[in-house]
Amino acid sequence: MKDKNIQKYSGELKKIGISHEILEHPELHTPPEVLGYLGLELSDGSSTLIMRADDEFIAVIRRDDCKLDLKKLKEILRVNSLRMANPDEFEELTGLPLGAARVYNPGIKTFIDKKVFEKEYVTGGTGSFTVTIKYKTEDLNKIPDSKVVDVAEIKELEKVFSNKIVFSGIQPSGNLHLGNYIGAVKHWVKDQNNGLNIFCIVDLHAITVPQEPRLLREKTFELAAILIASGINPEKSILFIQSHNPDHANLGWVFNCFVSMGQLQRMTQFKDKSEDKEFVSVGLFDYPALMAADILLYDTTEVPVGEDQKQHVELTRDIAERFNSKFGETFVLPKPVIPKTGGRIMSLVDPTKKMSKSDANQNATIYLLDDLELARKKIMSATTDGFRRIAYDVKEQPGISNLLEIYSELQGNSIKEIEQKFENKNYKEFKVAVADVVVNFLKDFQAKYNKVIETDLKKVLEDGAQKAYKLSHPKLMEAYKKIGFVN
Ligand code: AMP
Ligand code: TRP
Repeated sequence: MKDKNIQKYSGELKKIGISHEILEHPELHTPPEVLGYLGLELSDGSSTLIMRADDEFIAVIRRDDCKLDLKKLKEILRVNSLRMANPDEFEELTGLPLGAARVYNPGIKTFIDKKVFEKEYVTGGTGSFTVTIKYKTEDLNKIPDSKVVDVAEIKELEKVFSNKIVFSGIQPSGNLHLGNYIGAVKHWVKDQNNGLNIFCIVDLHAITVPQEPRLLREKTFELAAILIASGINPEKSILFIQSHNPDHANLGWVFNCFVSMGQLQRMTQFKDKSEDKEFVSVGLFDYPALMAADILLYDTTEVPVGEDQKQHVELTRDIAERFNSKFGETFVLPKPVIPKTGGRIMSLVDPTKKMSKSDANQNATIYLLDDLELARKKIMSATTDGFRRIAYDVKEQPGISNLLEIYSELQGNSIKEIEQKFENKNYKEFKVAVADVVVNFLKDFQAKYNKVIETDLKKVLEDGAQKAYKLSHPKLMEAYKKIGFVN
């Protein structure tokens, strides 16, 4: 157990005789997210509400599928005013972050709603967003200065698990570039506090085209380090390697039988990647069935990807619908989420083409691990135009617009602000400024990368795979059962 505070809290619970079990999970902020992760119902969870009743603070414990009847509680307490503690009051009183209240708060009168006791066990907060405690409910009576009251009603169970589950994958082939960072990874990092986020290094997908074993292994670790150095936090999110969780290949096989040749033939990525190739694997053709398995194993609601992957996510929905209509509701239909800005960073040599891993011209692409001086040179030699004005106009001035976008995305100023700043400057001065921003970003990024690559990535990725498997395996078993496989 990593957190000393949790150990201390657990010790206090033991002292007053409350049996409990400590459960760890990725960082999750709301009861539906935690309970969903643990595979529990909303009624299996409890929350402690810190409230202000006249001039005293009290704690009220209710089940997560219930809402408080404030009027009733006021009558029982015989107070005139009753409200939730505000964030400052909460933090001062409990010393815990808002939203992480514990069941036992020494020195505070505690009122426990009686519906809590209808369950043999309930989970509750611990002060940490990565740890939850499961209590034997009959022991909750032992909380000093506590009283059982009847003050909560079961909520209409609208859509309780309307929480967000995000899944995205990225191939460990080639070198990651500024376009990947700005168009994909940066958004994954930013949205990590929201819902459950799962990121998968898709090595099974990588072998749909020939790979050199030593290089594949190297690139897999490199990509993991790049993602962590970019800000993916493996404590908060689940980060793992696809081949470490066998459920992906297993469900991928099943989906082979739920997608037609015709559907796969319409995929533009297949057309692009198979064109003029001497050897085209069945795997390359079948790629979307495996991608559907990746997504559907986790009840994913959102798939953040670039425009190019939208068609695959739509096919994933078709596969889920076909399965569900044959065997009953099993898979959640996900939606693709495409970034509004930075979704298309362009080549520095030909700014009408996407910056890409496979560009033959090395000057077209800035790789995250590029030598800093080389990166500076690439920016200084970027294709511009003859207009002599620094303005965002993708049609007329694609090169300058691309540089403006890169500057804005990495540095944070809006494009308007940057245009104003460089109003009377020439292209060379502007390029020097863009190069500075890019080099500063890369320098900072590479310093983090160099530290991360030295850490025990294998352990981090194995932990991630275990967490992923815990979520995916019940789903796979459910599908197997419905198909008619013998248990
Ligand atoms: P890929 O490089 O094709 O493996 O893509 C990995 C992720 O980066 C996907 O979500 C892509 O949509 C995104 N991506 C790739 N190239 C660019 C680019 N030039 N601009 C913005 N996003 C990109
Ligand atoms: N096909 C994606 C790409 O090439 C990678 C990928 C594999 C993926 N499985 C996924 C993306 C699941 C999102 C969800 O970029």
